[in-house]
Amino acid sequence: MVTFRKMEEKDIEEVSRIEEETFSMPWSPQSFKEMIQREHVFYIVAEEDGKILGSCGVIQALDEGDITNVVVAKESRGKGIGTAMLLFMMEEGKKRGINAYTLEVRVSNAEAIHVYEKLGFVSEGIRKNFYDKPKEDANIMWKR
Ligand SMILES: CC(C)(COP(=O)(O)OP(=O)(O)OC[C@H]1O[C@@H](n2cnc3c(N)ncnc32)[C@H](O)[C@@H]1OP(=O)(O)O)[C@@H](O)C(=O)NCCC(=O)NCCS
Repeated sequence: MVTFRKMEEKDIEEVSRIEEETFSMPWSPQSFKEMIQREHVFYIVAEEDGKILGSCGVIQALDEGDITNVVVAKESRGKGIGTAMLLFMMEEGKKRGINAYTLEVRVSNAEAIHVYEKLGFVSEGIRKNFYDKPKEDANIMWKR
């Protein structure tokens, strides 16, 4: 059974491995280490039988949450884990007083956009050339 919980330092190695297999500009383990120590930040991991299958994070500013580093390991995609992980994260955010979420996603990332729309996110604008490697616009989405 897949379960969800807060990310701890012991998870970082595995989370970084998943980031590396996924993103052209993955975060370093050190960046994750610093992030999970920050006060208004929390990260969630998806886990099954002690194996990390995905992760995502939120940076909180008052009642708004900026979602970052959403990823599910390649072999575990398409099974509902990403959706369930984001729902879990937003429930946790609610307890911390977050009532609106925003995120950026590559305009070509149809799979992620589908997941976000399913969860009630709507596109509110485009940020030109937001991404590198390759250069691409970002779709700015909000769930209010
Ligand atoms: C985005 C991501 C986290 C989703 O995780 P996941 O566990 O695969 O998500 P789910 O299984 O909950 O949902 C996947 C949905 O995408 C749909 N989908 C799959 N390929 C698709 C495509 N090419 N276009 C549109 N929708 C697609 C599936 O049908 C499913 O929707 P459904 O539940 O309505 O059938 C995962 O694909 C991932 O890690 N991608 C690479 C990293 C990334 O892009 N992160 C987001 C950065 S902003």
